[in-house]
Amino acid sequence: MAVVERRRNPLREGLERPIAAATALVIFGATGDLARRKLLPAVYNLGHEGLLPHGFRLVAVARSELSDDAYRHLFAESVERFSRRRPDQAVLERLLDLTSYESGAFGDDDLYKRLGQRLAKLDSDDDLRHNRVFYLATAPAFFAPLVEALGRHGLAHAEGAEVRVVVEKPIGRSLAEAEELNARFHAVLDERQIFRIDHYLGKETVQNILALRFANGIFEPFWNRHYVENVQITVAEDLGIEGRAGYYEQSGALRDLVQNHMLQLLALIAMEPPVRFSADPVRDEKAKLLRAVRPPSPQEVGAATVRGQYARGVVEGEEVPGYLEEEGVDPQSRTETFVALRLGVENWRWAGVPFYLRTGKRLARKSTEIALTLRPVPHLALHGEGGGVKQNEIVLSVQPNEGVSIAINAKIPGSRMRTRPVNLEFLYGSAFLSESPEAYERLILDAMLGDATLFTREDEVAAQWAICQPILDAWERSGERPLPYAAGSAGPEEADRILLPGHAWRPL
Ligand code: BG6
Repeated sequence: MAVVERRRNPLREGLERPIAAATALVIFGATGDLARRKLLPAVYNLGHEGLLPHGFRLVAVARSELSDDAYRHLFAESVERFSRRRPDQAVLERLLDLTSYESGAFGDDDLYKRLGQRLAKLDSDDDLRHNRVFYLATAPAFFAPLVEALGRHGLAHAEGAEVRVVVEKPIGRSLAEAEELNARFHAVLDERQIFRIDHYLGKETVQNILALRFANGIFEPFWNRHYVENVQITVAEDLGIEGRAGYYEQSGALRDLVQNHMLQLLALIAMEPPVRFSADPVRDEKAKLLRAVRPPSPQEVGAATVRGQYARGVVEGEEVPGYLEEEGVDPQSRTETFVALRLGVENWRWAGVPFYLRTGKRLARKSTEIALTLRPVPHLALHGEGGGVKQNEIVLSVQPNEGVSIAINAKIPGSRMRTRPVNLEFLYGSAFLSESPEAYERLILDAMLGDATLFTREDEVAAQWAICQPILDAWERSGERPLPYAAGSAGPEEADRILLPGHAWRPL
């Protein structure tokens, strides 16, 4: 009964998603952390919602010697542990039946021969041509060799079927490496076959930035330099590096979060309206915007960026070690775990408006949000009585408490004209009585559908690197250590230094 009622609920209308053509999803790195925590649960949830195509097959590839059954066991265990919903055994069993495992070293040519044979057999077993989606959930060092091996073994194209390659981040550690990697991909694949993941684009609230801006007329008149005083993008995490020292020591906060997720958020907030909501029109606008972002010059880097590194502290009542004490971290490490920076967007809409970006590990709480602060009213006749008048703020909360809030000033009931800031609020949880799918569900589905709108194109990645590279170079040249901040705090106080007069970070 409850199910029937929920189906009829008008608030749930329009939540359906389309179904892809028959697909063999091949996951390289299928026993790794990403596969177990994110990809397998996402595939399960797509199955649970009836969104996997007729003729779906999963081929898991990794180095460990495992039987099909042993892998199915790992699959089931990952779903039990990490899925956003408790698995339905019938759905899970059906999915396990469609799963097989191929073991081998990615450098071994024989692996690709066996894989080719296996895919051909799946086609003949199901009596159809499966599209192929190769998902590279491996260490980055394997990305190019894997694509080249697919090319050598005739797996990068298939007659009568689409072949796509999904590649995780990071796309290189520098602009030069990214260019080289993309060139090696293009020697084998067309750009339209390459699906570069930025999992933030799969988040409902991130996609909602475009809906909010371009499906409503109300925001556009003030969405520009005449009314917006500054924009702040925060990606604060309370977690530390979670045993990923090997990766993080090579990365740091700028490469890990800013080069990809945060610049994508900036692009979505600041881009011009696309002519259509499809892959190239959307990505054309994002790329154009990213090319308008001016990185600080070498002389400006000191004044426009702040780097931090967490020291020992207390997070949620628990004492946690400092970054330099984490296992696998060089005790002399100069890797930043916090970065704050000020960027400008040099175009007609945004000239002169500072975009402040801030991200860090082991901060006071997890919060991802974008806030636009509007300029003050030109003349205030109220003389600041009551709680005072605050500048209007539009806050898009990506996570947690997904939603949008607009801070306005309202009269406090009573006989005097006193005001206090209040919020107009839209919350996902209460507006749509449904749980949002995980980012990876949407992205895996889109890769099967061949829709690249939520994947980053080569020119976007290059533009993102072009913004970050001068900063990385200047930091490297300066040889300075990042500033320490206590775990559980809001980051180094010096982050205030990059703000223009009269601006303040939103409290964490
Ligand atoms: C990943 C980073 O890309 O994004 C991690 O490598 C980070 O360091 C993570 O923790 C954050 O993702 P989310 O979805 O938890 O905000």
